[in-house]
Amino acid sequence: KAEILKTLPLRNKKILITAGPTYEAIDPVRFIGNHSSGKMGVAIAEKAALLGAEVTLVLGPSSVPISDKSIEVVRVISANEMYEAVHQVFEQVDIAIFSAAVADYRPAQIATEKIKKKESTLTITLEKTKDILASAGLIKKQQFLVGFALETQNELTNAKKKLEKKNLDLIVLNSLRDKGAGFKGDTNKVTLVDKDNKVTPFEVKSKADVATDILEHIITKIHA
Ligand code: CTP
Ligand code: CA
Repeated sequence: KAEILKTLPLRNKKILITAGPTYEAIDPVRFIGNHSSGKMGVAIAEKAALLGAEVTLVLGPSSVPISDKSIEVVRVISANEMYEAVHQVFEQVDIAIFSAAVADYRPAQIATEKIKKKESTLTITLEKTKDILASAGLIKKQQFLVGFALETQNELTNAKKKLEKKNLDLIVLNSLRDKGAGFKGDTNKVTLVDKDNKVTPFEVKSKADVATDILEHIITKIHA
């Protein structure tokens, strides 16, 4: 057993992972959400735990099952709740991986009663949410900070811009173009971009194997 423990590469490492969508309330029965399933982030959390890490998973509304009992799961609904949960633990972690599909905008007002059907159009004013990842980039010290980027055009250029702007060590570019990639399925195709601009593309794989690729890359960087 002691021998096995020695080989666990993330032993004694604290990892924070955000995953899933956020739901932004419009009224007591409606929300603005997105199609993120949370599968990619949960796969990273499970794999990190297997590799010996102490994992906190801040998870938006998602029905993906979590099997590893050692993972501390903090369930949140909105971008604002996710922001609060992240900052409860961010200072203490060694690695933070932000895979959540956070809403960029939320209704400026939440109606206290269910909105009734009236005119032929309805306008809802939206306001920006806080950028959780950027806020972590601003205060990071020892943390190895990883973001995700979902792009449909100028993918690499935009991913690199996000990496710089948010002060990241690594960004995971999610390809929506390729078959087998994206939000809902069990497979994904990613390209890793390091802060020194090194680009590492991967093939389409199961989300579990993509999780392994991402974590192995991080482990190599941390030990370098
Ligand atoms: N992110 C976050 N908080 C937000 C928005 C995004 O933490 N309010 C994080 C995501 O979890 C992801 C990264 O920022 O790791 C990039 O998200 P993405 O939606 O690709 O980029 P944005 O910066 O929101 O820019 P845009 O949607 O305009 O491309
Ligand atoms: Ca966004």
